[in-house]
Amino acid sequence: MERIEQLAALRGQLAQWRAAGERIALVPTMGNLHQGHLTLAQEARRHAGRVVVSIFVNPLQFGAGEDLDAYPRTLERDQRLLEDIGCDLLFAPQTTVIYPHGQREQTRVEVPGLSEILCGASRPGHFVGVTTVVCKLLNMVQPDVALFGEKDFQQLLVIRRMAEDLNLPLDIIGVPTVREPDGLALSSRNGYLTAEERQRAPALYRTLTEAGRRLSLGKAIDAVEQTALMSLRDAGLQPDYVSVRTAIDLMPATHEDNDLVVLAAAFLGRTRLIDNLRVMQA
Ligand code: PAJ
Repeated sequence: MERIEQLAALRGQLAQWRAAGERIALVPTMGNLHQGHLTLAQEARRHAGRVVVSIFVNPLQFGAGEDLDAYPRTLERDQRLLEDIGCDLLFAPQTTVIYPHGQREQTRVEVPGLSEILCGASRPGHFVGVTTVVCKLLNMVQPDVALFGEKDFQQLLVIRRMAEDLNLPLDIIGVPTVREPDGLALSSRNGYLTAEERQRAPALYRTLTEAGRRLSLGKAIDAVEQTALMSLRDAGLQPDYVSVRTAIDLMPATHEDNDLVVLAAAFLGRTRLIDNLRVMQA
């Protein structure tokens, strides 16, 4: 597997594959790879003959006071993991390759509305940073398919909407969340947790599971959200939000909607964890 850092080299390799008629899949990541990322890359193989994984810790999507500097950078290890699963190309650009005119001067891509609710409300500017970098990566690689995790459910929908609105000629594929045996969704940020916090962390998924069960029983949505907030607090987490939404567009849900998602974000110490659970109603 080749590791490429420059755009010209990337384009050269991709042109060869395209000339040979091969389909190309892209899996964008910020590195510090875990089994969630690797599952995306393995799933990518089912959709394309060539799998490209990008690793770029995107400064544009981090707010002031967030964990940009602390974000784990483990490129050599990541490269070995990708080699082991038969990834074809690792694209690992420096910031100057992605933002040659600097971040402030960078043209932005914004999905209004969807980007401003839930995580977007707590992290202003975050999704503009995500859609801008993902749009650039999609233009650099021009893949036939790109894969994203349902773990970041709002991100997946924002990116889908961007691709649709900008008529990007590719398929966006969502991949189910990979979890630890105790239910905690794998995340690069789990590494920030102390041993004691790690023990408490599964409360997030447990709370979502219980909320899903109560929704299926026909409990009022508002009551389900309130109970979930309480159970997170009882477990020692500081909830940011728990919200029941329609899975198609993240609008506030009613019991008439049958494809729902319960989304939650909570702080455990200084670490912000997110998770979600799809709930189908009869
Ligand atoms: P990152 O957090 O590194 O995640 C890269 C991809 O892996 C995302 O699509 C994310 O949803 C997926 N992923 C993370 N944990 C997962 C899990 N436990 N199961 C399944 N998939 C999982 O998300 C980003 O990076 C960035 O915002 C990015 C899209 C790369 C733009 O910078």
